[in-house]
Amino acid sequence: MKDIRILGIETSCDETAASVVLNGRTVLSNVISSQIDLHTIYGGVVPEIASRKHIEKIDQVITMALEKAGVTFDDLDAVAVTYGPGLVGALLVGVSEAKAIAWAKHLPLVGVHHIEGHVAANFIEHKDLEPPFMCEIISGGHTHLVIVEDYGKFRILGRTRDDAAGEAFDKVARAIGLGYPGGPKIDKEAKNGDPHAIEFPRSHVEDKGKTNLTFARGSHEMTNYDFSFSGLKSAVLNYLNQCKMTGQTWNRADVAASFQQAVVDSLVDTAMRGVHDFGVKKFAIAGGVAANSALRAAMRDACAKAGVDFYYPSPVYCTDNAAMIATAGYYEFLSGNRSGWDLNAVPNLALGER
Ligand code: KG4
Ligand code: ZN
Repeated sequence: MKDIRILGIETSCDETAASVVLNGRTVLSNVISSQIDLHTIYGGVVPEIASRKHIEKIDQVITMALEKAGVTFDDLDAVAVTYGPGLVGALLVGVSEAKAIAWAKHLPLVGVHHIEGHVAANFIEHKDLEPPFMCEIISGGHTHLVIVEDYGKFRILGRTRDDAAGEAFDKVARAIGLGYPGGPKIDKEAKNGDPHAIEFPRSHVEDKGKTNLTFARGSHEMTNYDFSFSGLKSAVLNYLNQCKMTGQTWNRADVAASFQQAVVDSLVDTAMRGVHDFGVKKFAIAGGVAANSALRAAMRDACAKAGVDFYYPSPVYCTDNAAMIATAGYYEFLSGNRSGWDLNAVPNLALGER
């Protein structure tokens, strides 16, 4: 078969990224320009600043991605771009850029779902991984347990009912003075703390009267595989408040470690229930929180115990990048999926929607 080189573009949040991927699984270049420093002073991503910075950086990042891959626009077979979900202004920069390149170079345009990209990150380093498998997608905006039935085809088993896991990390980090971005800072701080110092609640989401094998169909349907993190976040805030009111000191590393342990327990528990109930043999994690060291260790142990093959991307492919978009785009391309020149940014694009 002819070699396929796809340029991936990702601008859904605060990373301007471009990558060239060969035949879906060989990364020729992976350029990421992070805006973290710019947003840190505001304690979170400022959408207007993100859009403006994407516009400034996008050409440079794409040029670097082509140079590092040793290719020109003429060597490409398609342009894949994240068109949702994400910040609308940020997404529009990538979508417009991808359209301009595809139009000028007569290349097919492939719009990619950002979450599908996160799942596809697992294909990059695991050449043997093929659907079907179960995947827990844990990012700043999403927490989903899904069965990846085929490339780009998902059966959603559960989702978060309130905050996403990454969102909880970011909010708790802010509350304990670690700042933005919270996930990596809590991960680091927790290494010096006792994960059992404070017993924060583990969310236990269950709907009585439903069997374990209920699937999420409509966007509001609840299942036994749903997640919830806002109760835990409130428990941390209450703990801090109580310490303040009673004049007690609290230990930042212990709070970080105990909070992280509660998130990890919930994520592992729900995943392993799914693995057990559906009898899957392959389990993967994806998204920014999948970079968490405690989670990776706990999942590895739980999967080994359950006799399940465990897949996880390197940290650089867990957080936002364009290689995962090019990889997901490759499988969309093989399926014959093409986007029209009317491709638009869809900020609330649901998983499984096109
Ligand atoms: O997937 P991602 O890069 O962007 C979204 O699509 O949302 O995820 C970003 C989220 C942030 O909430 C960040 O705090 C979290 O992933 N994160 C982590 C770690 N690295 C990033 N959370 C826990 N531990 C980490 N090491
Ligand atoms: Zn993401």
